Amino acid sequence: MGIKETLARNFRQPSGLMGKLVGLFMNKGNDFMNRFTIDFLHPQSSDRILEIGFGNGKYMHEIAGKIKTGFVAGVDFSKTMVAQARKRNYTYIKQGLMDIKLGEVQQIPFENESFNKVFTVNTIYFWPNPDSGLKEIHRILKLDGQLIISFRSKDKMEKLGFTKHGFTLYETQQVMELVKKAGFRDIRVESTVDRMLDVNCVIAVK
Ligand SMILES: C[S@@+](CC[C@H](N)C(=O)[O-])C[C@H]1O[C@@H](n2cnc3c(N)ncnc32)[C@H](O)[C@@H]1O
Repeated sequence: MGIKETLARNFRQPSGLMGKLVGLFMNKGNDFMNRFTIDFLHPQSSDRILEIGFGNGKYMHEIAGKIKTGFVAGVDFSKTMVAQARKRNYTYIKQGLMDIKLGEVQQIPFENESFNKVFTVNTIYFWPNPDSGLKEIHRILKLDGQLIISFRSKDKMEKLGFTKHGFTLYETQQVMELVKKAGFRDIRVESTVDRMLDVNCVIAVK
């Protein structure tokens, strides 16, 4: 397997030592994008927030540190990332402020209407079925809850060689349509530029 394919595999589902290194690399490469997203998430102390596909859990840690009370949870299907995120967030988990679960966006291991905010950064490329993933997010969000999906557009991502391996790329309009089809309302997009790449947050309300 070539280096591009190995990288792509570990972006999709970080595994083992290489996965841990890719997790650290993503903390650097996606930092601006995560911060741009969290600005729109606007965490409050009364929030119940879910992150889907949290990498090594750096941003859940930062959010929990900001809001002090409330509840922050994460779901990710990488055992390596779940272990890393649990280690990083040990104190918050012990305090009952955080819960980190191994799981799939297609089958989110939380009850109906558990959260008032859900966000996910750089994961939609790997969802096996965006319609059912969005249906699941809709299920676990409370009425009037907010969803933010952050991604880089097809147009820009297809220029990066590794995205040929296992990525499904989307234009902003396509993600907005998927979100609408899943029953969300008040759908808007906030975009900016991060170095040579774009950052798009599709923001919607249940
Ligand atoms: C490219 S990384 C992005 C990590 C972080 N959000 C960031 O922006 O740096 C994708 C993350 O989403 C997780 N992931 C990918 N597909 C998933 C799925 N279908 N369900 C749950 N987690 C998924 C991966 O395990 C990985 O931790």
